[in-house]
Amino acid sequence: MSGIESVLHQLVADAGLPPVAEITALTGHGFDHEILHAILADGREVVLRHRPDAPRPVPRALARFLADHEVAAPALLGGTDTATLYEYAPGEMLSALVDEGRVSDEQWQAVGTAFRGLHAIRFPAGLAGSFTRDGRLSLQLSDPVATLHEELTRSAPVLAATLPGVVPQLPRLHAAIDAYADRLRSTPTALAHFDVNPANIIVTADRATLIDWGEPRVLDPGQEIAALEEHVYLLDGSPMLPPAFYTGYGPRPATTALHRLTGAIGWYTSGDFDEWEALPAALKPKADRWNRGLAAYLSKLPELLHQL
Ligand SMILES: Nc1ncnc2c1ncn2[C@@H]1O[C@H](COP(=O)(O)OP(=O)(O)OP(=O)(O)O)[C@@H](O)[C@H]1O
Ligand SMILES: [Mg+2]
Repeated sequence: MSGIESVLHQLVADAGLPPVAEITALTGHGFDHEILHAILADGREVVLRHRPDAPRPVPRALARFLADHEVAAPALLGGTDTATLYEYAPGEMLSALVDEGRVSDEQWQAVGTAFRGLHAIRFPAGLAGSFTRDGRLSLQLSDPVATLHEELTRSAPVLAATLPGVVPQLPRLHAAIDAYADRLRSTPTALAHFDVNPANIIVTADRATLIDWGEPRVLDPGQEIAALEEHVYLLDGSPMLPPAFYTGYGPRPATTALHRLTGAIGWYTSGDFDEWEALPAALKPKADRWNRGLAAYLSKLPELLHQL
């Protein structure tokens, strides 16, 4: 039995669950974790997420917070500093469904409903933050307008080196941030998943579950919807999420269009793609596709700024 399998058996026993009957490795989807899917003797299913290179405390406080607020997330069943055991979320990854063009309206609505429940956990405008390693929520007062200007300024040298055609557009984007200032400053912030890659959204016919809660934040919900839109665009080229999503979610936040542009620049210049140069062959094409898609998206910046 491999080391990781014995951790699985131990965590299942510690959680008071029946023994493991069958184990399958889930590979090729996540960048960071080795994932084992297990069926227990009573038919229940669990998932072990293992990341030996980055030990961290078991995120119990976050899991309790999500459960108390009825967020559509799998229950945490146990863990060590390098492995966590979760309830299995049945269904398919939204990424696969979008890629293959087979997301039903009911499924989009379910995804919208999951995000509506998450973003219903609101905080006063101007408060933003993240969870600390030991599970405390750390919030700061910050001006979203100043933050966006600063992030854009920080991105400029990377853009000059990698996508110089975008640089002449940056003054217009700074002006757009100012034009959105009232909307940005008056928006209550909300709990956000912050890694809304559609491989982290598992859907059945009528239900969506958000998995992979590695770095939740408190931020403008428009920023999270923009990130989801960007990811879906990178998969199938659709400019916006479909109306069925908003049937479940409620109205598209007023700041979404602006965050879409600043978010794409932020991601493109974040350093993720340098880090992903060394990815295994099974995952590299996905990162390359995002990189090329973002560059293509940003090459349309003049037109996109016009539409704001
Ligand atoms: N609780 C769960 N229920 C169902 N499937 C899961 C669960 N946890 C993980 N998976 C499957 O394993 C894949 C990778 O898991 P996860 O997103 O947790 O890993 P990761 O390495 O952190 O991913 P990322 O690339 O987003 O960093 C998911 O896309 C999903 O297909
Ligand atoms: Mg993931």
